[in-house]
Amino acid sequence: MEMPEYYKSPDEMTAADIGLDLLLRSLEEELGLNFKQYKPNYLKRRIGVRMRAKGCSDYMQYRQCIRQDREEGGRLINDLTINVTEFFRDQEVYEAIREQVLPETINYKKETGILSIRGWSAGCATGEEPYSLSMLFLDALKKESAWDWALRITASDLDDKVIKKAKDGSFEEAKVLPGMSLDEYFDREKGQYLVKEEVRRPVRFVILDLMKPPPLRHLDIVLCRNVLIYFEKSKQYRILSIFNNCLRKGGFLILGKSEAIMGAGDTGFIPFNRKERIYRKEKDMQEAASEKPRLRSERRGVQPPDGRSHSAPDKEGRSNSGTRRIVLKPEADQEANTRDKKGEGHDRDKTI
Ligand SMILES: C[S@@+](CC[C@H](N)C(=O)[O-])C[C@H]1O[C@@H](n2cnc3c(N)ncnc32)[C@H](O)[C@@H]1O
Repeated sequence: MEMPEYYKSPDEMTAADIGLDLLLRSLEEELGLNFKQYKPNYLKRRIGVRMRAKGCSDYMQYRQCIRQDREEGGRLINDLTINVTEFFRDQEVYEAIREQVLPETINYKKETGILSIRGWSAGCATGEEPYSLSMLFLDALKKESAWDWALRITASDLDDKVIKKAKDGSFEEAKVLPGMSLDEYFDREKGQYLVKEEVRRPVRFVILDLMKPPPLRHLDIVLCRNVLIYFEKSKQYRILSIFNNCLRKGGFLILGKSEAIMGAGDTGFIPFNRKERIYRKEKDMQEAASEKPRLRSERRGVQPPDGRSHSAPDKEGRSNSGTRRIVLKPEADQEANTRDKKGEGHDRDKTI
């Protein structure tokens, strides 16, 4: 049996570990969703809640329960893919996009003569995030009287139910930034806020697992907020490499407030606004990786002949064993736990 990567050795696997592994396999086989990439402690906590609710004492019993009750499978998936979001979540981040990211992007586009802005909201939940981005883009372009610019925002999520809701574009609550008007971007109908057609038009929703690279290239902005915290470190690294591949050089990556890239240089990103977790693609990841040995030898002197160093991780959290210890600070885990407790939850020119 192939062992889950988070177990140190097959000998250490307990009956509970095997039960959890089998449950995750069932979810993959029956529902096509791979949760093995998530952090084990997160999985155990969330699944534990559902097990208690159904009175199951172990994973095997719960696996049986899911097989007999499809609705319970749906409930578990809801709990695992926490979909909490809101318009302009963390206002300061969107202020920074408006004041810093968009002016830089628009200037760059004017210089190159490519009159388009292309973004990706990865893990968009019910759509508030990509619609917020669309409103900001429209606002910025209106101020420039740039009527002929093309806008495209790809909005993706693993969960088909949230994508369906997002496409409806109808919300109980709405919010805009200071200086923007609700009426400009929303219609009111039967107590709901309906996103106006001009805000919807640039946004294209797709169901997509973040672990699978999408055919997106030359993007200007990627938002992946409050998603990476749930993933194992090696998976976070893989997802960052996907973002790096999809962005143009100088393009922006925007993470959640409690997410930060450690050892950003290894990933080809450099901090742009540390406080708001905004990064910029400086170079391709392969290029960054190929430069790494040289930089190390400059910092630490001669490397062993096999190219591996056996000293302690450096300040930025880089391990010297050849594996990268990167991505999220420990506080991100705490944030995930807190949310959890609150119940929150390549073809160059092809695009989706
Ligand atoms: C907490 S919400 C974040 C929503 C929004 N980005 C925000 O910050 O307001 C996390 C979203 O990530 C999605 N997600 C989780 N795992 C995913 C995966 N492997 N691929 C794509 N989306 C995923 C979940 O379905 C959920 O909608």
